[in-house]
Amino acid sequence: MAAASPMRFPSDLLVERSLQIILENQAPTGAFIASPNFPTYAFCWFRDSSYIAYALDLHGKNEASARFHAWTASAINRRADIVQRALQKAAAGEPLTDADVLHTRYTLDGEENTTTAWENFQLDGFGTWLWALAEHQRITAQPLPDEWLQAARITADYIEGLWRHPCYDCWEEFREKIHPHTLAAIYGGLKAYGDLTGDQRDATTSAIRSFILENGQVDGRWQKFLGNSQVDASLLALSTPYRLVTPDDQIMRRTAEKIEADLCLGGVKRYATDTYYGGGQWILLAAWLGWYWCEVGEKEKALQLRQWIEAQANENGWLPEQVPVGLNEEAMYAPWVQKWGSIANPLLWSHAEYLILCKFIQDK
Ligand code: BGC
Repeated sequence: MAAASPMRFPSDLLVERSLQIILENQAPTGAFIASPNFPTYAFCWFRDSSYIAYALDLHGKNEASARFHAWTASAINRRADIVQRALQKAAAGEPLTDADVLHTRYTLDGEENTTTAWENFQLDGFGTWLWALAEHQRITAQPLPDEWLQAARITADYIEGLWRHPCYDCWEEFREKIHPHTLAAIYGGLKAYGDLTGDQRDATTSAIRSFILENGQVDGRWQKFLGNSQVDASLLALSTPYRLVTPDDQIMRRTAEKIEADLCLGGVKRYATDTYYGGGQWILLAAWLGWYWCEVGEKEKALQLRQWIEAQANENGWLPEQVPVGLNEEAMYAPWVQKWGSIANPLLWSHAEYLILCKFIQDK
């Protein structure tokens, strides 16, 4: 029998389902598991969860968002000594090892995972957390608890002190490279922290901005990492949301057009040579591109991307991490399935970006 053609979930239903899926998968501690059905992702990532918290805030689920921020603040405050040590080593020009840095993912109880090796040295998620925390405050208009502000200061010190260090990118790859996306997340995080507390880190944010403007471009658009001229869909974040430049900035616009031309087949790939599960089309990046298009008034394009996402939901309303159609490298699909199992589904971050897109479409 031929497989049934995919049914498209109507937006209001998928918005409801997405909120349910996220809330059902929030641990009592406040942490969000990246994906409940994919053992490698049975952890809480600052990056994924900060977007999840933002999506919840946009949709009025502020208490759940607050529980995540409380979890994060506690995880960071308990590691103030690690931050101190990292900053001292960095200032002394000593190399940073995995034991010297904050991890990128934690167990749902806020502990380090020591059973499996991971690409822990990633700075973007901390900037994203500061940004999401400031958004939480802006949306709820409530003062933040002192412990959260203390954690925010520790986080700001950490990313401010380490921003010049190459680290893994948001896809947990290319440890030795400098990634404009990571720097923009640090920039956006420090700016948000300044707005939130009045503790502006202007010298650093100006230095980061000048550095990216001088070194992060090729052919008048942003590049994946210094010395690699391809685009990466995560570059959308330079404007949306981190505002290193405005969405209608010409460099940004050319970058988005290049992402659309090189990486969008309906959904959006991470980058043209990605081979993770063969390099398929990511739900969260389709939503991100749609979010960007909303910001520059291209609502039709945003609606098309939303429609594509809605056609990818399975009968439970789950959105996967990626859809393995039109792969960059077919031969790399099976080895990943063998290594880690089927593609993560549902992925909470996919649902979060979908929720963000829906809100932006609605508000335009
Ligand atoms: C992605 C990360 C993400 C993690 C958890 C990884 O495969 O590259 O960006 O944070 O999965 O979803």
